[in-house]
Amino acid sequence: MKIKEAFELLKSELLKVEDSYFAKKEALLILAHFLNTSPLNIYLYFDKDIAEKEVLQILKKRLAGYPLAYVLKEAWFWGRKFFVEEGVLIPRQDTEILVEAFLGSKIQKGVFLELGVGSGAIAITLLLEKPDLSAFGVDISSDALRICQKNSGYHGVNNKLFLLKADWLGAFRRAPLFSAIISNPPYISQAEWNGLAEEVKKEPYQALVAGETGLEYHEKLVKEASQFLKPEGFLFFEIGYNQKHQVEKLLKEFGWSYQFYKDLSGYYRVVKAWRDEDLRN
Ligand SMILES: C[S@@+](CC[C@H](N)C(=O)[O-])C[C@H]1O[C@@H](n2cnc3c(N)ncnc32)[C@H](O)[C@@H]1O
Repeated sequence: MKIKEAFELLKSELLKVEDSYFAKKEALLILAHFLNTSPLNIYLYFDKDIAEKEVLQILKKRLAGYPLAYVLKEAWFWGRKFFVEEGVLIPRQDTEILVEAFLGSKIQKGVFLELGVGSGAIAITLLLEKPDLSAFGVDISSDALRICQKNSGYHGVNNKLFLLKADWLGAFRRAPLFSAIISNPPYISQAEWNGLAEEVKKEPYQALVAGETGLEYHEKLVKEASQFLKPEGFLFFEIGYNQKHQVEKLLKEFGWSYQFYKDLSGYYRVVKAWRDEDLRN
């Protein structure tokens, strides 16, 4: 079968589980997987042949309700491929706003810390984009750290990404160690988890749920991060689409200056925070 035919078949079949935007996106991801190329390149290969049987096998698993990234064991982030599998959160496109905020900041060198490093998509992207940085990545999940180690090797940054299994900031002494702390923490409440689609529930509970309110990890970040940051350091973190009000209250209470960043739908999804007002620009 030609790639073009496979593309049309996948798009129409995937409409059973996705809207048309995501059906097309996933069709491109499946074909990119087989051609070992970026989804953006698929249109260049429309006349090439592809094994129909293998495409249908992937499609069958996807239609049975498995997130595509777990079926393919890969996900794309900031234009790069990352290994993923069950046990680690699938990196989300929205999280690229967090990376954008960091890359747009003054931080060019030094050591940053990522809390809840997961697959490593954020830390590895930052290390590749800013070669004078090095980083610590912390996670409580051994599965996540194993996958992160694999991604770190694949992208050639394992000489500057140091991984630690720890409970949040528990492994570090309270000292001005880092130029930045960055995190996409768990931020879903228990009630929200109960209402999630079964497909999302295939991702690890501890990567998504933050207590009764969903704000447990934001509270920890805002209360504790300054004790580990250099005076000129920045804190970056992601929030849920409906959490700006509560997070802003916390930031004010603990004396941070801050800036919020919106996603493409207009929701505030990322915070950059700092202690010293001179750092504003
Ligand atoms: C929302 S996921 C983010 C993963 C990855 N950074 C990303 O953006 O794709 C949150 C991560 O925090 C980790 N985590 C949850 N509780 C933690 C804790 N107490 N200490 C360290 N890591 C934790 C989870 O295992 C998960 O990998």
